[in-house]
Amino acid sequence: MAGAPDAAGNRIGILISGRGSNMLSIAEACRDGRIPARVALVLSNRRDAPGLERAAAMGIETLVLGHRESASREEHDRKMAAALQERGVRLVCLAGYMRLLSAGFIREFRGRIMNIHPGLLPAFPGLHAQRQAVEYGVRWAGATVHFVDEGLDTGPIILQATVPVEDDDTEESLSGKILAEEHRIYPEAVRLFFEERLRIEGRKVRITG
Ligand code: GRF
Repeated sequence: MAGAPDAAGNRIGILISGRGSNMLSIAEACRDGRIPARVALVLSNRRDAPGLERAAAMGIETLVLGHRESASREEHDRKMAAALQERGVRLVCLAGYMRLLSAGFIREFRGRIMNIHPGLLPAFPGLHAQRQAVEYGVRWAGATVHFVDEGLDTGPIILQATVPVEDDDTEESLSGKILAEEHRIYPEAVRLFFEERLRIEGRKVRITG
């Protein structure tokens, strides 16, 4: 099992759809004791997500719940919620999970779902934030960790990191620079959560201590 003993029930569930590099950055931080919690489950809606093997290689339990096997988003999300609750998950981390969550799921885990976005929100929400940034011509781009609410990338912001956009940057080169920052700030935000240092006050997240 990756991570520290979880007598306090500090268990993380990570939702992925693909590569899983952010999932790994969190799992490694748990394993190395930088986050006082452990990853109890990596859940994918896609059987072919490469992140599943990477999680299994770290000894983390994995589960596939194909969204096409449910009649509706609500039904699929109810199955996910049940799997997470069964394992006593306190924090749900979206890490390249490519589906919107239903209102019921968000209600059940309110204030306990985080997402990483490869852009400086509220600029460039949604898909292909890095491409949007290059095409718009911004000088600074970056990454955002935020709590998840009912909107698309609209929840209260926890941490952000910036990277400069150079004239010769492409979507690919910028994505690489941003990803390095994602791997730094996502585990950091999760650590703050389990240190009980995040307080949501309306739109704002106060970091205490
Ligand atoms: C990351 O760029 C993340 O910001 C976005 O999707 C990508 C997932 O990459 N939400 P990975 O699966 O964590 O490698």
